[in-house]
Amino acid sequence: MENRIGKRPIIIAIDGPAASGKSTTARILAGKLGYTYIDTGAMYRSVTLKVLRSGLLDALREDTGRVSALLDGLQIEFRGDRVFLDGEDVSAAIRENTVSREVSFVSSLKPVRDRLLVLQQKMGAARGVVMDGRDIGTVVFPEAELKIFLVADPRERAKRRHAELSLKGGNSAVPTVEELEEEIRQRDRDDEQRTHAPLKRHPDAVVVDTSCLTIDQQVARVYDLAAKILEG
Ligand code: CDP
Repeated sequence: MENRIGKRPIIIAIDGPAASGKSTTARILAGKLGYTYIDTGAMYRSVTLKVLRSGLLDALREDTGRVSALLDGLQIEFRGDRVFLDGEDVSAAIRENTVSREVSFVSSLKPVRDRLLVLQQKMGAARGVVMDGRDIGTVVFPEAELKIFLVADPRERAKRRHAELSLKGGNSAVPTVEELEEEIRQRDRDDEQRTHAPLKRHPDAVVVDTSCLTIDQQVARVYDLAAKILEG
């Protein structure tokens, strides 16, 4: 850990659409700064997994209020790069495509957002965090000193997601790049059009297009912006 910049720790918010490179960038950046990385997508995915396991998904489409029962006593914790749902390590399970398909619906529910908002604000209260998601710069930490909005061409994002899923292996067949692109476009639309905390750029957020950047290049861009604030 470098943490060579010994100023008062800041909050770095990284938002953007699916597979735009947020989590990779945020994780490496946090490591370089000696900051804590908080993957809020993993939190929404964990709640989605809980909904799927409960068998309540269809009932929720009719009566969204029923989700509240699942939120009572909900515990989500990060330990290193693992995420724990009610004490169980769900890091692999939340990346399954079954979860990806339903996560936008579950994330659109007001009680879910209210609950996770409180958890996320608590997690970032000590500052020195890099938090990624869809509404970090707009809703969770509008006061974040650095706000980034990462974007990339949908085809490129589908290719990245395909490579990621192929590398992971597992039991389920990997969808084609075309299928993934359609899913990603649909999720972007759902995230942008929902009523509560939609995906949108904060006017202060710096847009970084990662379509033609390597991981090193995109991390360097954001790191330089952070360093300027911390040194300035
Ligand atoms: O990694 P990927 O880009 O596929 O998505 P993610 O960051 O894991 O987030 C999964 C989903 O959670 C998003 O498509 C959103 O529907 C939802 N989400 C949200 O609503 N608000 C956040 N702050 C983070 C994620």
